[in-house]
Amino acid sequence: MQKAASLPLPPADAQAASDTLAARIGESIDAAGGWTGFDRYMALALYAPGLGYYSGGSAKFGRDARDGSDFITAPELSPFFARTLARQFAPLVAQDLPRMMEFGAGTGRLAADLLLGLEQEGQLPKEYAIVELSGELRARQQETLAQRAPHLAARVRWLDALPDSFEGIIVGNEVLDAMPVQLYARSGGRWHERGVARTESTEAGAAAAFRFEDRVIAAADVPAMLRDIPGDHDIVTETHAEAEGFTRAVGAMLSRGAAFFIDYGFPAAEYYHPQRTGGTLMCHYRHHAHPDPFLYPGLQDITAHVNFSGIAAAAVETGLTVSGFAAQARFLMNAGITELLMALDPSDARAFLPQANAVQKLLSEAEMGELFKVIALTRGLDDGTDQSEPLAGFARGDRCHTL
Ligand SMILES: C[S@@+](CC[C@H](N)C(=O)[O-])C[C@H]1O[C@@H](n2cnc3c(N)ncnc32)[C@H](O)[C@@H]1O
Repeated sequence: MQKAASLPLPPADAQAASDTLAARIGESIDAAGGWTGFDRYMALALYAPGLGYYSGGSAKFGRDARDGSDFITAPELSPFFARTLARQFAPLVAQDLPRMMEFGAGTGRLAADLLLGLEQEGQLPKEYAIVELSGELRARQQETLAQRAPHLAARVRWLDALPDSFEGIIVGNEVLDAMPVQLYARSGGRWHERGVARTESTEAGAAAAFRFEDRVIAAADVPAMLRDIPGDHDIVTETHAEAEGFTRAVGAMLSRGAAFFIDYGFPAAEYYHPQRTGGTLMCHYRHHAHPDPFLYPGLQDITAHVNFSGIAAAAVETGLTVSGFAAQARFLMNAGITELLMALDPSDARAFLPQANAVQKLLSEAEMGELFKVIALTRGLDDGTDQSEPLAGFARGDRCHTL
């Protein structure tokens, strides 16, 4: 485990905000009798109003720690990510789906670059709705749109609640991985839920600090996908009730159209493979990835990989069709990222090389190309024959059969 000592120290005001959040989480644990599920801890650390990582004021997304950021996402890395998605979305807009909805829009880069891309494709949506839990990010999204796509900003609106029904195209990049997960540990051949308790109190006035505490659970309470993991060796892993509930809510809302979710993760057979023993919980602070979720609550990102089989099953429960599942590299290449890049002038090295490098990161197996996946969930495309023609991004290398 990377020690806090080897990570940069937060400035005093950020540390004070983190201490306030830690005290609040501590009170919530006390109120629950001294132990809470990890999902509750993660929900507070990321989303407690005004103090959680996504609801507070930290920089979050950026290229390196010098700008105070913690990690970079594909839309921040290269405009070619959004431009390529626009090529996949344009024929759908043309199928009489002129509305879009984005979940968790970050800095607003994806929204701005998607709208610019769709404008270039001649398929501008009439409306682009953003569902964002964080007021601070909503303000940043407005700023980004005003700067990058001022003539299109009036098409964007922010929703406080999901509509009962939505017809159109939905997109969410790295949203599912930011949803709270439950942790489970098998040790001594028995399954436990891994929750959070306070550490023994230290000196008076010190911020609350936390530790994992495992509680044995009855065999009947062990989630089905964990019961099936063969052997009796020790394992720590996650389950994703919130992301699956979110998918059901999206499925119930989507009356016609397609939802695309892009994230890191695997199908269940890989996620719960007996040789994968350490789980996927990961934290990001100032571009350091480390496994300690109790470091600086509210100042660091906490994530877990996505179990795409669970997402697919939740979607199917609501009558959606899983119309595509592919590695990000395959999806972006199928949808034409290389042609877009080749439209730049390679002899203009100063403009071309940084773009080519960023696209290489999106596609490389060692970086984002293989770990990140794209899943497409649809209803009523092509007059109800969802499978009649594959979506372009999944034309080759579709892996739906692995879900
Ligand atoms: C890792 S960030 C990704 C941001 C952006 N999509 C990007 O790619 O740069 C995760 C985002 O998901 C948002 N989020 C998490 N759960 C959400 C939900 N249920 N509805 C909408 N947004 C959500 C967070 O507030 C945050 O903005």
